[in-house]
Amino acid sequence: MSKMLITGGVGFIGVNAADHFLSKGWEVIILDNFSRKGTEINQAFLENKYPSGLTIVKADVITDQPVLDDLCNKVDVVLHLAAQVAVTTSVTDPRSDFDCNAQGTFNVLEAIRKSSAKPTLIFASTNKVYGGLESVGVDEGERRYSFAGGLKGVTEEMLLDFHSPYGCSKGAADQYVRDYSRLYDLKTVVLRQSCIYGPHQMGIEDQGWVAWFMIATLFNRPVTIYGNGKQVRDLLYVDDLVAAYEACIENIDTVSGQVFNMGGGADNTLSLIEFLDFLKDDLQMGVEYSFGGVRPGDQPIFVSDNSKFMKATGWSPQFDTTKGIANLLEWLKENKDKLEGFYS
Ligand SMILES: NC(=O)c1ccc[n+]([C@@H]2O[C@H](COP(=O)([O-])OP(=O)(O)OC[C@H]3O[C@@H](n4cnc5c(N)ncnc54)[C@H](O)[C@@H]3O)[C@@H](O)[C@H]2O)c1
Repeated sequence: MSKMLITGGVGFIGVNAADHFLSKGWEVIILDNFSRKGTEINQAFLENKYPSGLTIVKADVITDQPVLDDLCNKVDVVLHLAAQVAVTTSVTDPRSDFDCNAQGTFNVLEAIRKSSAKPTLIFASTNKVYGGLESVGVDEGERRYSFAGGLKGVTEEMLLDFHSPYGCSKGAADQYVRDYSRLYDLKTVVLRQSCIYGPHQMGIEDQGWVAWFMIATLFNRPVTIYGNGKQVRDLLYVDDLVAAYEACIENIDTVSGQVFNMGGGADNTLSLIEFLDFLKDDLQMGVEYSFGGVRPGDQPIFVSDNSKFMKATGWSPQFDTTKGIANLLEWLKENKDKLEGFYS
């Protein structure tokens, strides 16, 4: 049986990944410090569904090096998701953002380097490493931005340009993960993820906007749009991301040492105001919103070109936004009573 360590495994992406790999017969060890609100809900979900095969360790990637050392020696794959995830928080508290994202990832790498097991490492990086894409330029339409010059998506050839402490800390980690493969011959893959959404996403104003807008509607909370709402994101449904993690494992000899962009791509883009209109017109979920100033590090548009990963592994996204958003809504409605505590 194969074994996986998922750091940050009771967070949004982690719980979906754990669910998938446990259902496929993997043994999964989760390491999480439970700092994210809602992690207990995800823990209960996994423990109820999987009475065996799952171990959850409460520990911190910044301070618990011996725990990391021990666990990394017991597994075949490490999926490193634990992170400080909000750009806004990184601006108000850059040191703890650095500690978690840069130092925490370094600690995971060192645990793997020193291990005899030498597990494969998959690292959840971010499209924020490309910064504001100033070299491309944007056109402003009535309801959305588009790339100037007809560019459809950003490839891995784009210049790195870390914006915001979050961009810097994740970007540093991204480069360390890549270099540890070159230097120490470890099997590592970096996925520069766009906006991910889906069930178990307990979005808040600072992070996870797709879920947050829907949750705000369900709990009658007002939404603030920072900027003019024309910002465009490519949305990737979480099951497609987990399928990409699996594709990395299955094709590790091809993808090891490489960096890939990973998003919904040009076929799955929405601007914030388009999404609010979709909620109102298609799902009859009107939400009260007002506008605030542009937030630091907020890209006017990001759309991933996934073709490098598609060519390397045969993977492609299977969920369009209509289907994915319907699934997220169903999960939010089914779990509304559990979420009540911290949203109402
Ligand atoms: N969700 C997205 O749209 C998105 C996009 C790009 C990249 N990412 C990256 O994907 C990863 C997972 O994101 P998510 O959306 O599931 O976030 P999340 O906040 O739901 O999950 C992160 C988990 O890490 C845990 N954690 C935080 N600090 C920790 C620490 N010091 N030690 C141990 N555990 C810690 C939290 O308790 C949480 O369970 C992150 O690395 C994030 O940067 C996410």
